[in-house]
Amino acid sequence: MTVSRAPLLGAAILTAIVVAAGSAQAGDPKAGKKVFKQCAACHTLDEGKNRVGPSLHGVIGRPSGSAPKFRYSKAMKALDLTWTEDNIAKYLADPKGFIPKNKMAFNGLSDPQDIADVIAYIAQESSQ
Ligand code: HEC
Repeated sequence: MTVSRAPLLGAAILTAIVVAAGSAQAGDPKAGKKVFKQCAACHTLDEGKNRVGPSLHGVIGRPSGSAPKFRYSKAMKALDLTWTEDNIAKYLADPKGFIPKNKMAFNGLSDPQDIADVIAYIAQESSQ
């Protein structure tokens, strides 16, 4: 279920989040490991191991919707995007707003630092 927000306030908050998340903020992989617990119900960082969500091993720099054997939503398949850190940050700040009709049942992360940290953790785990 989507919770409706006051549109103006929502847009203002979203802009603030996107601006903050988009700036080169140093992520801490150790803190990100804790944040990733929220993702781990659906995602692994093991290559090729999909769960409810696709494996996030090596997702940074990967084209959207390209994890082998994962059944993406039409919305995600239709998207022509590279998962740069910036795009991942925007997606995590507002999954349904950034990609309408995608099927990730996750409300997003409200703290830009959490977003930077979890991306740093994904990067670290993907390089191992
Ligand atoms: C309730 C399950 C769930 C949770 C929790 C969740 N995700 Fe997802 N995620 C998905 C699903 C399902 C998709 C595929 C969406 C689609 O096909 O529309 C997805 C897609 C993604 C993608 C795009 C991957 C690709 O191959 O294109 C990224 C990046 C991502 N999630 C990151 C995260 C991160 C980081 C977290 C935690 C902060 C998280 N997700 C939490 C289910 C989840």
